[in-house]
Amino acid sequence: MQTLRITLCAAAMTVAFAANAAEVEVLHWWTSGGEAKAAGELKKMLEAKGDKWKDFAVAGGAGENAMTALKTRVVSGNPPAAAQIKGPAIQEWGDEGVLASLDDVAKADGWDKVLPKVVIDTMKYKGHYVAAPVNVHRVNWLWVNPELLKKVNAKAPTTWDEFFKTAEALQKAGIQPVAYGGQPWQDSTVFETVALGVGGVDFYKKAFISLDQNTLKSATMVKVLETYKKIKPFTDKNAAGREWNLATSMVINGKAAMQFMGDWAKGEFLAAGKVPGKDFLCVAAPGTANAYTFNIDSFAMFKLANKDAVKGQNDLASTLVSPQFQEIFNLNKGSIPVRLGADMSKFDECGKQSAKDFAADNKSGTLVPSFAHGMAMHSATQGAIYDVVSQFWNDDNMTAKSAADKLATAAKTK
Ligand code: GAL
Repeated sequence: MQTLRITLCAAAMTVAFAANAAEVEVLHWWTSGGEAKAAGELKKMLEAKGDKWKDFAVAGGAGENAMTALKTRVVSGNPPAAAQIKGPAIQEWGDEGVLASLDDVAKADGWDKVLPKVVIDTMKYKGHYVAAPVNVHRVNWLWVNPELLKKVNAKAPTTWDEFFKTAEALQKAGIQPVAYGGQPWQDSTVFETVALGVGGVDFYKKAFISLDQNTLKSATMVKVLETYKKIKPFTDKNAAGREWNLATSMVINGKAAMQFMGDWAKGEFLAAGKVPGKDFLCVAAPGTANAYTFNIDSFAMFKLANKDAVKGQNDLASTLVSPQFQEIFNLNKGSIPVRLGADMSKFDECGKQSAKDFAADNKSGTLVPSFAHGMAMHSATQGAIYDVVSQFWNDDNMTAKSAADKLATAAKTK
């Protein structure tokens, strides 16, 4: 009898706990070393609130595969509680009428006061918060293995001339100059960085924000494309299809000297125990020291009927924007906190530089959204531009002039 009562009691407690412990299914694509460590911190903090993290990880840099998986789930009427959705795509999902409001959490936690305006505008759909931001990534970085550069007496390049001279010297010395991953999103990541460095901020804005036809077809665009393609001989023959983190490992392990990549690459260096300024360098990509391509990660929540699930979503949203999470997550992820005036004392030189430049570039109007990372344009337009950039990179018979014309046509895709 006694045993039965204890068992029943335990069962009742389990039920009570289950009713409060919301299961929160989170779709993301953070599967590399640094990314997984950062995502692990989120899971820990959410579970500390008594919720249960249900991992819905879909591998593949920049989330192309994750977005395909998300569409399938939403179309079948079974969306996850939260999904990594960024930039203008938040508005596209808002138009579908499937996103849940986060206004209560945002009000309670004072998001309007602690987030930059550009971020607030992106997180809101028709005036209501539907997504929570986690960080700011800078895209226009060059990651350098200083040991390898030392072998050819070179410093980290700051201009394109220096970059190509250094690349040639490395190649002559039998050192692989550039670690490259030939995937559409990576092609466009490097291409937009070249566009910023060669064309400058105004050109970048006209080309990728205004989608101005004349700029897309201009002589400057032809020069940008030519400079981009000039990098190819300095990549290796196994670059096609390579994941970005494997390219980063080449720089980490001394197999290649440099990589153009956003600062999620720093997460890989750190996860491998490497020290910035000593084992690796982070420098602004050639010609881009006074500009900043930003990429803000965020999670949107889907409308769900289950009340417990809604509690879980609110807990997740509140965690994401909290100062504690922003610090620990971004220390692992390579990005910087999105909150205004965040304490940067625990961050390394790359993080401090990024925060300083973000503020300065925001002031001077040289902060630009990364089109390769879904910050600048409609996803269909982005896809069409991706296609042209990758076609140009892969087809050695395509001229820069014809690629520029194709870019202009692609920019009309809606
Ligand atoms: C970006 C994303 C980053 C990083 C990267 C590689 O689009 O914003 O958080 O994960 O892709 O997967």
